[in-house]
Amino acid sequence: MSTQNLKTRLYPSRIDFAVCTRQEVAAILNATLATTLDLKTQTKQAHWNVKGMHFYSLHTLFDEIAGELEGYVDMVAERVTALGGFAMGTARVAATDSILPEYPFDILDGKDHVIALSDRFAMYAQHVREAIDKTDDLGDADTADLYTEISRTVDMRLWFLEAHLQGSEGNATNGNSSATKTAAQVK
Ligand SMILES: [Fe+2]
Repeated sequence: MSTQNLKTRLYPSRIDFAVCTRQEVAAILNATLATTLDLKTQTKQAHWNVKGMHFYSLHTLFDEIAGELEGYVDMVAERVTALGGFAMGTARVAATDSILPEYPFDILDGKDHVIALSDRFAMYAQHVREAIDKTDDLGDADTADLYTEISRTVDMRLWFLEAHLQGSEGNATNGNSSATKTAAQVK
């Protein structure tokens, strides 16, 4: 069976959702699972390779963020299985299905890692916010609630990351930082 079919395969369940609803929500969640796994390993990549005068604080922050994402990986995967679906969470599936671009391997400085992660967190935040509305429209308030919890944390972490960039740029009046522009261009 192809991985595409596995993503919408369902076990019989007494849960009170229509099969088509469970399939649609499971597909959205599996896309999030792949992307969250990718973002977690990219954040670890930054944790391991960051250099410069702010090494220790960034090394520690990146690990804290990766730990949060690991928690969400588990919660998203287990929401798929709670709906009778099939969680698709291997590294190979994540690499294929993530919405994020690959992490840059040629950066060292803390600021460059903060920009790279900010770009990716902005994309992930948009994906999660869209998933709140999609799953709510499908009538699955519990999954929408899970996405809302993730969304709140991701917005906070994007703030933590961008705060490193905003002080030096001093560009608070138009609200359009260079990091935000980069994220918009990536979309
Ligand atoms: Fe570590």
